Amino acid sequence: MATQTKQRMMHLGAFVHETGQHVAAWRHPEAHYHAGTSFADMVETAQLAEQGKFDFLFLADTAAVNLQGSADVRGRMGKVVKFEPMTILSALAPLTKHLGFVATSTTTFNEPYTLARQFASLDQISGGRSAWNLVTSNNEQDALNYSRTEHMSHADRYERAIEFAEVVLGLWDSWDEDAFIRDKESGVFYDTEKMHVLDHKGKHFQVRGPLNVACSPQGRPVLVQAGASGTGRDVAARLAEIVFTAATTFEQAKEFYTDVMARLPRFGRTQDEVKVMPGFYPVVAATQSEAQEKYDYLQSLIQKPVGISILEHTIGVHHLDKLPLDGPVPEMPDTNGPLSRQRLLLEQAKRDKLTFWELCLANAGPRGHALSIGTPTQVADEMEHWFKDGACDGFNVMPAFQPGSLKDFVDTVIPELQRRGLFRTEYEGTTLRENLGLPKPVNRHHPKPMAGAAE
Ligand SMILES: Cc1cc2nc3c(=O)[nH]c(=O)nc-3n(C[C@H](O)[C@H](O)[C@H](O)COP(=O)(O)O)c2cc1C
Repeated sequence: MATQTKQRMMHLGAFVHETGQHVAAWRHPEAHYHAGTSFADMVETAQLAEQGKFDFLFLADTAAVNLQGSADVRGRMGKVVKFEPMTILSALAPLTKHLGFVATSTTTFNEPYTLARQFASLDQISGGRSAWNLVTSNNEQDALNYSRTEHMSHADRYERAIEFAEVVLGLWDSWDEDAFIRDKESGVFYDTEKMHVLDHKGKHFQVRGPLNVACSPQGRPVLVQAGASGTGRDVAARLAEIVFTAATTFEQAKEFYTDVMARLPRFGRTQDEVKVMPGFYPVVAATQSEAQEKYDYLQSLIQKPVGISILEHTIGVHHLDKLPLDGPVPEMPDTNGPLSRQRLLLEQAKRDKLTFWELCLANAGPRGHALSIGTPTQVADEMEHWFKDGACDGFNVMPAFQPGSLKDFVDTVIPELQRRGLFRTEYEGTTLRENLGLPKPVNRHHPKPMAGAAE
């Protein structure tokens, strides 16, 4: 009997900011604008994402208010306060059934035991729908809120991140799935043989364990990683199950994809354990010209100092406000913050011959991610090309303003992708891992099942 091969499906994350990804989103007449003070807005966003059958809702994070620049400029920034990701996602979990939740948490200012506990707990609350986006912190000002006078170096941050993640993964294997007997009659609560003590002693951390949260309903929370320099790519290949990356062109995305996949064997890993999902900023309408109008309208809301300030943040370089707007983008020293993003945007400026202000404008929405302006068919064509021609396994969709841009995508692009057989019409499973088609990890304290053995 002929076996039918299942068509490969793309995965989609809703990578959202409270008001929208565009720096001026909050000024749009139809946008949410209560950033970080309206739970109802976040509920609307999450439920819309679930209606669209997105794999997950994804929140970025930083832990500082920008104090660079004049008071007048700072007072115009819409992205200044927001919900802390773990708490808001924990609150959204019971209001959804299938949607996964990716919270960004840094390895630079946390302790692995605390973080392992929080994510394990979110996994219990959500019935196996949590994921940790491992970052090393791109915002140098975050350091000032964590008892330091300056940000740790790029290399040191990554060294700490690797040990940090090893501890977290170890702690998540503290309990076997069937460790808890809870037999009221005999009075035995758990089987001590099915509990595992980590006893980690390393350069940065000493953690005895075990974790005081039970085994995750999906084996362990999904590990996402965002960081794209050479070191960042090695960390992705070593640890990540989802790699979040930024690329302005198909060629860049394909180079990244090929490179990360080529690094996997060095860490004993295979392609089916990893999904690469670049950011994707769609602006969609019934006609190309309407879509362009939508794009232009949001761009027209960018105040000059705000456009400059968000570029400074994206590339980790300050004091750019004296540069002539119509002049070229000058050479800049490497940042100790978001190094890969800085290189990407400077390359974009060079390639597209952008003036300084044009670079500010190009950055204000997508911030170095792919931009697609067009009809649902055109946007879906672009996504299909990236997906089928070796640049990614899916996308982190970045709605320009909330809820309108997410709604446009859910109402028009998702049905087009579904019509093409490229995206699910129903969730495949109950856990995030099942929906992503990622293997359930084997607890390190158990032997791997023999090839061919029944699971
Ligand atoms: C796509 C992407 C998203 C990121 N998101 C965050 C974030 O939300 N918060 C944060 O502190 N750092 C974030 N980072 C920063 C990285 O963790 C890292 O500190 C920084 O990018 C420098 O490493 P790199 O040069 O390897 O990219 C992100 C990086 C990338 C590439």
